[in-house]
Amino acid sequence: MSVYLGIDIGTSGTKTLAIREDGTILAAATEEYPLSSPQPGWSEQDPADWWRASAESVRKVLAKGGIAPTDVKGIGLSGQMHGSVFLDAAGNVIRPALLWNDQRTAAECAEIEERAGGRSALIELVANPALTGFTAPKILWLRNHEPQNFERLRQVLLPKDYIRYRLTGEFATEVSDASGTLLLDVRNRCWSQTLLSKLQLDPALLPKVYESVEVSGTLNATAAEALGLPVGVPVVGGGGDQAASAVGNGIVQRGAISATMGTSGVVFAHSDEVQIDPAGRVHTFCHAVPGKWHVMGCVLSAGGSFQWFRNQFGAEEVAAAREQGIDPYELLTAAAATAPAGSEGLYFLPYLTGERTPHADPDARAAWIGLSLRHGKPHLARAVLEGATYAMRDCLEIIREMQIPIEEIRLSGGGARSPFWRQLQADIYGQQVVTINAEEGPAYGVALLAATGTGAFASVEEACGATIRVATRTEIDAARTARYNQLYPMYGQLYRSLAGDFKEMAKLVREK
Ligand code: XUL
Repeated sequence: MSVYLGIDIGTSGTKTLAIREDGTILAAATEEYPLSSPQPGWSEQDPADWWRASAESVRKVLAKGGIAPTDVKGIGLSGQMHGSVFLDAAGNVIRPALLWNDQRTAAECAEIEERAGGRSALIELVANPALTGFTAPKILWLRNHEPQNFERLRQVLLPKDYIRYRLTGEFATEVSDASGTLLLDVRNRCWSQTLLSKLQLDPALLPKVYESVEVSGTLNATAAEALGLPVGVPVVGGGGDQAASAVGNGIVQRGAISATMGTSGVVFAHSDEVQIDPAGRVHTFCHAVPGKWHVMGCVLSAGGSFQWFRNQFGAEEVAAAREQGIDPYELLTAAAATAPAGSEGLYFLPYLTGERTPHADPDARAAWIGLSLRHGKPHLARAVLEGATYAMRDCLEIIREMQIPIEEIRLSGGGARSPFWRQLQADIYGQQVVTINAEEGPAYGVALLAATGTGAFASVEEACGATIRVATRTEIDAARTARYNQLYPMYGQLYRSLAGDFKEMAKLVREK
């Protein structure tokens, strides 16, 4: 039997999953670790925790699945994107890694734009504008704020690529994750020597770039011992968590779109060509499918808004659900369903943690707007679900504007599990939505990449075709879609009206 492992270095934990070559899942295990925020807006993790969790979760998966170590024929790596692991000449970690959701680099983003010759010039070079979460501003932050650490810096790796280094001894990455560094020439799938030189960064700091299915190294003796696997198992490039998750959802051909409603919400579109939004509102990154790209919008608090609502206002439902042995979200969405479409004039802006797409505004804040005496908890709940879904529609609209065809929208994450939220998504997106048979996320996607890269499938498209099927279809309700089409423009209007005030409010908070 041939077995393939997918290891996903997530923000809350590392998930390892083992599949057979027909895509059947044999076992999965997750090991958690902490996140530290030493100052407001900072977000860091210790790469040693990722390594421990990777080794432990692989051992658990082998034991749970009764898998013979010699059956493991390939490993794929995925992980949180954009994080910076700083290594010295001996390959030791210099300081904790700065993560994708770290917000300390606003000044460095401005510095990058300036050195690149302006925002448009930067987008021309690397297909994307500078965002605080991306990797390049983190390297500049180290140079500007911790020069003694920058002196020692010899290699910068992304989170999953640090695990690759521990597994194989190779400094390597792959195109999908490298796109999120802001240093990749996304069009030509190689490091942008032009931008590196404008930023005065030594190209030797960056690892070798592979395609996602290429073998980037093999398991060395120390790693083999730590994981309980034989020496020499091939490790393929893998993918950043969003591209890997898209492979796991079968988003590998033109017309296929996914809408993933997790804590954050991501709308992901496959593209056969490099398509760039000149306004830089969505990200254009290389796909994990060789020679393809993707366009992606990221809503920072999508499912996260509803989770916040549950935590702050759902104590009653949480207690009742515990008694009934069900999920509290079922009771909260049942309540939301009793309010009419549009929540009788109530809107919710879901900017609890600022916003990335389409506003790129760290100062944006959440709000219910339009409250009246008629409104009760069901309206508040429904407005939160509607607001998060309008935010996803904002991403879809940009993708439509870019003339990327939207033939099938595949839902995943928490928002796909609730029939009510599935219907709401169909109605607000104005298009049928589907779910697929297995929703296992990035670890599944990179296990498929490992199977493809080691010869079990001829291509990523073939791997997805053999393993992924549509499970449910939800049609739009024409009357509700018409109503939401009427209501949606005001959602955008409310942000535009408040954007200046959000900036002033942020200043007031800082000046306290
Ligand atoms: C993608 C992004 C997140 C992180 C963490 O651009 O920032 O998806 O990869 O999951």
